[in-house]
Amino acid sequence: MAIIQFENVERVFHQNGQAFVALKGVNLEVGDREFVAVVGPSGCGKTTCMRMAAGLEHPSGGSVSVDNEVVRHPGPDRAVVFQAFALFPWKTVWDNVEFGLISLGIDAAERKRRIEHYIELMGLRGYERAFPHQLSGGMQQRVAIARAYVLDPKVLLMDEPFGALDAQTRVVMQEELVRLARRHPRTVLFITHAVEEAVYLADRIVVMSARPGTIREIIDVKTIREAEDWDQHPRIEDVMDLPSFVHLRTHVWKLLRDQHGSDLH
Ligand SMILES: Nc1ncnc2c1ncn2[C@@H]1O[C@H](COP(=O)(O)OP(=O)(O)OP(=O)(O)O)[C@@H](O)[C@H]1O
Ligand SMILES: [Mg+2]
Repeated sequence: MAIIQFENVERVFHQNGQAFVALKGVNLEVGDREFVAVVGPSGCGKTTCMRMAAGLEHPSGGSVSVDNEVVRHPGPDRAVVFQAFALFPWKTVWDNVEFGLISLGIDAAERKRRIEHYIELMGLRGYERAFPHQLSGGMQQRVAIARAYVLDPKVLLMDEPFGALDAQTRVVMQEELVRLARRHPRTVLFITHAVEEAVYLADRIVVMSARPGTIREIIDVKTIREAEDWDQHPRIEDVMDLPSFVHLRTHVWKLLRDQHGSDLH
């Protein structure tokens, strides 16, 4: 059953009086509790796709649906995590995580239970009363992810959530997200520039091409991950050394590289 559905989506922008087709013929179905990563060259329309699923933007043609309802505006069934940590600077870690739960009308005991669970899972114990400016970038992003998961939304939309992190922090976050995603599978649309991150995290990878942005290929990772039992390796570097991982990574790289080649002509 598809939870997120892009049906023949087109998005036209107008710049200096000229129409510019940013996305064309995008068809994608993200299944229940499926983790789908989207990769593609800069400007191919990844963020635009995510913003349409979030209800922050609308297609010029076709439709985007979540749980069989056409998306018209933002809603609590869709939690968004952006590259820049969009925390409330004047609220503590605890209050940042709690904020959405209060607006959903969830009672205090249940809020406490959920917040404690995700604060523990994201390694934020002891920092409940800290303010965002007292945390590192990685910790701030853990708060942003905890804040999204705690809502138990139907759909999680993440746009390069680790893009602003240094390489080591990023690896730690990737491992934590894999643990979280396997323990609490959710329907996730995850945008990234990093091919390895996509192969490591996703059940399927959508490779996009630019001008106009469209889906070039969709690659099944989950079948291979499960057959080769990647999850038995707790460390990302051990997974990345596996021939099955290398093979997939190379395949995605080639798809992206071919586009750069054709861009030159
Ligand atoms: N509001 C807007 N008005 C005009 N053009 C826009 C607008 N938003 C996006 N675009 C254009 O649409 C195209 C797709 O943009 P988008 O941000 O979705 O790309 P992206 O794949 O997320 O890129 P990146 O990898 O750099 O984040 C770009 O060419 C961009 O300039
Ligand atoms: Mg983007």
